[in-house]
Amino acid sequence: MSGQVRETRILLRRCAPVTREQAGERLVTSKNIKRWRSRFPSRDIRLHEWIPYEPADGGIDAYIESGGYSALRKALGMRPGDVVEAIAESQLLGRGGAGFQTGVKWRLAAAQTGGEKFFVCNAEEGEPGTFKDKVLLEQDPHQVLEGMAIGAYATGCSEGFIFIKGEYGAAAQRVMQAVREAESKGLLGVGIGGSAFSFRVRVVRSVGGYVCGEETALLRALEGRRAVPQAKPPFPTIAGLNRRPTVINNVETLAYVPHIIDKGPAWFRGLGVEGSYGTKLFCISGNVANAGLYEIELGSCTLGDLIFHFGGGIEGGKALKAVLPGGVSTSFLTAQDLDVRMDYDSLHRAGSSLGTGAVLVFDQTVSIPDVVKGLFDFFASESCGHCTPCRIGTRIARDLLARITGPVGIDELANFRSRGGPRAAGLLDKLEALGATLKAAAKCGLGQAAPCPLLSSLERFREEYTMLIERRQAEYDRIVDHWPGAEARKAKVRARRQDS
Ligand SMILES: Cc1cc2nc3c(=O)[nH]c(=O)nc-3n(C[C@H](O)[C@H](O)[C@H](O)COP(=O)(O)O)c2cc1C
Ligand code: SF4
Repeated sequence: MSGQVRETRILLRRCAPVTREQAGERLVTSKNIKRWRSRFPSRDIRLHEWIPYEPADGGIDAYIESGGYSALRKALGMRPGDVVEAIAESQLLGRGGAGFQTGVKWRLAAAQTGGEKFFVCNAEEGEPGTFKDKVLLEQDPHQVLEGMAIGAYATGCSEGFIFIKGEYGAAAQRVMQAVREAESKGLLGVGIGGSAFSFRVRVVRSVGGYVCGEETALLRALEGRRAVPQAKPPFPTIAGLNRRPTVINNVETLAYVPHIIDKGPAWFRGLGVEGSYGTKLFCISGNVANAGLYEIELGSCTLGDLIFHFGGGIEGGKALKAVLPGGVSTSFLTAQDLDVRMDYDSLHRAGSSLGTGAVLVFDQTVSIPDVVKGLFDFFASESCGHCTPCRIGTRIARDLLARITGPVGIDELANFRSRGGPRAAGLLDKLEALGATLKAAAKCGLGQAAPCPLLSSLERFREEYTMLIERRQAEYDRIVDHWPGAEARKAKVRARRQDS
């Protein structure tokens, strides 16, 4: 352990810690990793389920008693531009995955004048293994609402939306109750806190789907249209909901805002390391003993600390094989990377990224090609189909991976053999080329980031793919020896190839 691990409870100070028992099926566990491996239909590869526990806080009174809404009152006494600059000075990076500077986004939106502006809280949280936003909304929704109200005041927005994942029934109920409570206390609605500032918040349930979390797709969904990502620019801060300037922030990002306004940007920058300030919620799951949600100062611990100190080490005393340190759209790290610090720059230098903070841990018994196949079941099923590289590319990748990991089919075997040459090279080269194409040509982050686990696994676990292909080849040879029909099929394929 690095000896400097700092678990700093800022966002989670009012939330009960989430344990494996409480989080239940929502975590990625060895049980549902096996479900990936048994190739359930991709729609069933949902690693998110309900967290069966009751909200821990006592409503708005408890929140106010513990200092809640004082930051909003303080912000209302400041000029909107000063609030924006305080957030910019804190260098808060968006926690929705892309890590964009919140202050820069707010500055852009604040500069748009004339007419209505909107403020949207992105609570879609569609990525497997993430549950931080759900916990914040279920257990401490006022923290997020206060952050939204401060953001709306700073950027001049009069209407807000919380776009919440369809399956998050309890969280949606809790947020709606919180909105009503805040309205009844004059902390949302018309003339907030006796000021001239008015801000109305509406809760919108998403129909579900990973792509609905992509900001431009989310805005289309809010407009009542099909959730299809749009080309950028223009960015939503210029032309968003109904072509009006719109700020979109993640739930966790907004939860930091009251604390920054309350204690000042210098306090926030006193936490974390250069370039990665503040704390971060990490959702640790997979083959770890203590799966759960942990709030840790950025850069204060290594990947190894996270897994072995907070995660309690690998389940059953097995060896660690691989980690996806920032969710399913990041690149694999291995046991060689345990010294990498958990901050944006360090993970980037190690060849991966912080993403959403979903740390997925795999032990020595897990087949990485099977995991990647499971991920492509997910990506192919979640692709909105709007651009060809992603619509076709994710499916081809899924099918190629199925040919490596799946059961032997005679038709496919004939094709497989007919390719000739070094057996592994053809398929793996094709997967690599496909990954590069997706990265370069897909229209939105879903398609652009989907190849990250694939390409990094081909780099770091190539021998596993080769072994599986060799095993299938041996199976093929065995079938051919005992089933003349297969030889005939092979001859047919060869003849077809000669004709063409
Ligand atoms: C496929 C896809 C899914 C996304 N899902 C989410 C999500 O569930 N929640 C979220 O906050 N951001 C999500 N994002 C990122 C958003 O587009 C956007 O960057 C984010 O909401 C901005 O908030 P932030 O600056 O506070 O991070 C997703 C992006 C992509 C490409
Ligand atoms: S990359 Fe995929 S999800 Fe994104 S627009 Fe293209 S098809 Fe849709």
